[in-house]
Amino acid sequence: MCGIVGYVGKKNALNVLIDGLKSLEYRGYDSSGIAYISNDEVNIIKEKGKVSELEKKINFNQDVDLGIAHTRWATHGEPSVKNAHPHTCEKITLVHNGIIENYEELKEELAKKYNFLSDTDTEVVAVLLNEIYKEKKDIVDSLIELKKKLVGSYALAILVSDEKDKIYALRKNSPLIVARSTDASFLASDVPAILKYTKKYSLLLENEIAILTKDKITFLNDEKEEITKEIITFEGEENAALKGGYDHFMLKEIYEEENIVKRLSEEYSSFEKLLHNFKDIKKYNKIDIVACGSAYHIGIIARYLIEEYADIPVNVEVASEYRYKKNFLDKNSLVIFISQSGETADTLACLRKVKELGVTTLSIVNVVGSSIARESDIVIYTKAGPEIAVATTKAFVAQLVIVILLTLYFAYQNNKMTKEEVSSVLKDLQKLNIKDVINKDYKDIAKILKDKNDIFFLGRNIDYAVALEGSLKLKEISYIHSEAYAAGELKHGTISLIENKTPVISLLTCDKIIEKTISNIKEVKARDAYTIAITTKAYDFIDKNIVIEKTNKLLMPILAVIPLQLIAYETAKLKGCDIDKPRNLAKSVTVE
Ligand code: F6R
Repeated sequence: MCGIVGYVGKKNALNVLIDGLKSLEYRGYDSSGIAYISNDEVNIIKEKGKVSELEKKINFNQDVDLGIAHTRWATHGEPSVKNAHPHTCEKITLVHNGIIENYEELKEELAKKYNFLSDTDTEVVAVLLNEIYKEKKDIVDSLIELKKKLVGSYALAILVSDEKDKIYALRKNSPLIVARSTDASFLASDVPAILKYTKKYSLLLENEIAILTKDKITFLNDEKEEITKEIITFEGEENAALKGGYDHFMLKEIYEEENIVKRLSEEYSSFEKLLHNFKDIKKYNKIDIVACGSAYHIGIIARYLIEEYADIPVNVEVASEYRYKKNFLDKNSLVIFISQSGETADTLACLRKVKELGVTTLSIVNVVGSSIARESDIVIYTKAGPEIAVATTKAFVAQLVIVILLTLYFAYQNNKMTKEEVSSVLKDLQKLNIKDVINKDYKDIAKILKDKNDIFFLGRNIDYAVALEGSLKLKEISYIHSEAYAAGELKHGTISLIENKTPVISLLTCDKIIEKTISNIKEVKARDAYTIAITTKAYDFIDKNIVIEKTNKLLMPILAVIPLQLIAYETAKLKGCDIDKPRNLAKSVTVE
């Protein structure tokens, strides 16, 4: 959701800021804006739509060394120039990522003196800060006071017209990183915005304020004391946020899956390494898994795996539900949180709830140093590198590898698998042939799906969880309605929707239950469905078989999900959809 960039330094700030916004486009947005200092004035330009539209309105032939910029994903008020950030009030100009929950009551009070120009919660912050600053006259004191008054989530980058050489930043529950290159200071919502200039950055934490000038960054705590920050080095490729010759980030990221699996399989290449990497994980009698969207689907796969192989009961829930219901946890429970971004608001809130109960938390996270990673008792990084396409692919596969490895660990711990059995799966993981699955041609299937209104996905057991992911992937990027069903469930209502040539994509990779799914495919075939199967062997009665290699049954979901990612990709491409930035979606969902 919303992206923030701030820059002060020797380069042309306008170029750096617009470049930075473009690298954050993947987060999802519907308008953008910039505020910069030129001729000793704060100038503001905003536009609806793409950053390229904003770019057209900017005169880059100006001497500008400081500014803040923003992409807005509308929450309060429609996407429009008036609601786009920056928002300003007299001496204060700011951009904001997050939601101010008490903005209505604050606004009611402030509206007695001030005529609001937008529908946003952000303008309320600008007005409130300006009011506090008028009284306190010191901006740091004012920011400390502002924090006390705001309820909700925020990452804020602020210009104060009395101090035109500085950018102030603070945050709560929304991410913000701060970085230095040799001749400049940066702030951003995520690392892709700074990678061109530096790989080193610090995470701004909740009780801190950052003050950026062209020579240095000063960090203060809430007592106004200067503090030193840990510097993190980004470990991925510098061009991780570039398309590298691929038409879309999504395709590039699917191609990266082979290396990600290889890297993880090397890191956990032996039984001893597995035990070592997971040494902090004790024995638990019960596991809850909490996540959203695709990460939730990983949770469902994990449930089938852990219950079957490790014999531990697992409860999986979407975070937005788990948060508000009764949980049955005790000191022998473990709660696992799965999140690519590590910032998903509901997942983070659940983590905090569970921590308050004193129950052990483990997170599986991609973004290093993200809130979920920092706040969990144990963190396992998926190490998939920055994922730019909104629809997750490579991070999903990396999460999948991690939950398979965790299953092996739990199974060994519980005496359900021997050292030899575990080692044999680890060996198979190293040999997994991902290239072959990626290199198959999915364009023919895309042609069949492209003009359909409804598509169904079927599977049982782990195949069902993979079907859920295939369906989500297809609908989110191709905008074709689709639903995934546990294959045995279709006949309890939904089969009435099957008519002539309705595509039904089935998963047939979960050996022990294949015959049952085959019967269900025959049921839809008898009602004239067009049947497609991701299968380890071809069946004559199925219209289109996508045959994938049979490998160790624990590893099958890795191979099974890739064709579904590529089918979604090719279908969306044929339809001319905005694949990397599907409408209405955001990469990091920091609102509840
Ligand atoms: C779908 C997708 C989303 C995310 C969900 C959770 O392709 O990407 O469903 O999986 O928003 O996000 P994270 O994993 O960042 O918590």
